[in-house]
Amino acid sequence: MATYTISVIGGDGIGPEVIAEARKALLAVGERCGHAFVFREYLAGGAAIDATGVPLPEDTVRGVKDSQALLFGAIGGPRWENLPHHLKPEAGLLRLRRELDAWANLRPAIVFDELVEASTLKPEVVRGTDILVVRELTGGIYFGTPRGISGEGAERRGFNTEVYSEREVERIVRLACTLARARRRQVCSVDKANVLESSQLWREVATRVAREFPDVRLTHMYVDNAAMQLIRAPRQFDVVVTNNMFGDILSDEASQLTGSIGMLASASIGGPVGFFEPIHGSAPDIAGQGIANPLATIATAALLLRHGLRLEAEAQLVERAIRAVLAEGLRTRDIAQPGCAVVGTREMGDAVAAKIRSLP
Ligand code: IPM
Ligand code: MG
Repeated sequence: MATYTISVIGGDGIGPEVIAEARKALLAVGERCGHAFVFREYLAGGAAIDATGVPLPEDTVRGVKDSQALLFGAIGGPRWENLPHHLKPEAGLLRLRRELDAWANLRPAIVFDELVEASTLKPEVVRGTDILVVRELTGGIYFGTPRGISGEGAERRGFNTEVYSEREVERIVRLACTLARARRRQVCSVDKANVLESSQLWREVATRVAREFPDVRLTHMYVDNAAMQLIRAPRQFDVVVTNNMFGDILSDEASQLTGSIGMLASASIGGPVGFFEPIHGSAPDIAGQGIANPLATIATAALLLRHGLRLEAEAQLVERAIRAVLAEGLRTRDIAQPGCAVVGTREMGDAVAAKIRSLP
C-alpha cells in the first residue's frame, strides 16, 4: 500500500468546511484503490494571524515543503482587511505560492451538461464549454518591484510594476502548449500588447515558443477582447495562457460560464510540491452555515491526485463521482435548479464519497 503525505490548510470562512469534504473524497479513493493518505494540518491566512500574529508561519512553510502535495481551502475575511499589507491573509497565500515555486496555475472551466441551466448565460452559448486557463502565478504585477505608496497629500502615489522575464513567459507558454496536446491543440495567449511593453515581450516569446509545437495552433488576443469573447462564444477557447493579473480576472469570469464559482478547481504546479486550491474565496457571508458548495474543492482533490501524485485513474474516479451526483439531481444552493434536491455542504460531500466507493 502506497502512503501519501498531504498537507492541509483549511484557512478561513468556508475553507475548513469544504476541505473536510475533499478529505472525505480522498479517503474514499484510498479505501477503494488501496492508498493511505496521511493528512497534516497547518495554519495560514486569518486563522494563522489570530493564532500566531502572521499570515504564514514558518512552521507551515516547512511542513508543506516536506509533504507531497498541499490541499488548500481559502483565506481572508473582513476581520483582517484593515491590517497592513504584509500582514493580510492574502500576503500569506502569495508568499506560499512563491515559497513552493508554484508558477503555473491551471484553472479548468468545464460546463457540465447537468448544469447548463445554472449559468446566467444562455444554455446554447455555454453548452460544451471546456476551457483550461493557464495563469502565470509567481510573477507579473503581483510581485513586481518597485511597488508601494509614497508622497504626501494630493501627490501621494500608489504604484506597482508589471514585469516578466523571457524565462517566465517561456516556461508558462511551453506548459500551455504541452497541455494543449492532450486536448484540442489550441492555445490562445492573452495580453495587452497594444499598450504594455511587458505584453509585447510576452507575445514575442509566446510566438517563438509555439514554433516548438507545430501541431498546436497559437493565437493571440487582447485581454479586453478576451473578456468579451469568453461570454460571447466560450467554445472557441481550448487553452488560454496569460499573466498573473489577467488570469486572475479571466478565471473568475470563466467560472460564471459553469454556473458557479463554487465549481472551479485549480492546480498550482511547477515547484517540488503542488499546491491545490479551489478558485473561490473564503465566502465569509455564508461561512459556518453548512451551505457552501464543496464540489470545487472535491474537484481540486482530483487535480491533486492527477498533477500532485500522478494518480490519473483515481483523479478520473473523483471526477466521475462528481458528475454522477449532479446527474442524480443533487445541488447545493448556488447551483440549485427547479426540480433538484438542494443539499448542504456535508450531504454533497457524503454523496460524492459514496459514489467514489460504489461507481462501477
Ligand atoms: C485567486 C485569488 C487570489 C489571487 C487572492 C486571494 C490573493 O483571487 O486565487 O484568484 O488574486 O490570486
Ligand atoms: Mg482570483
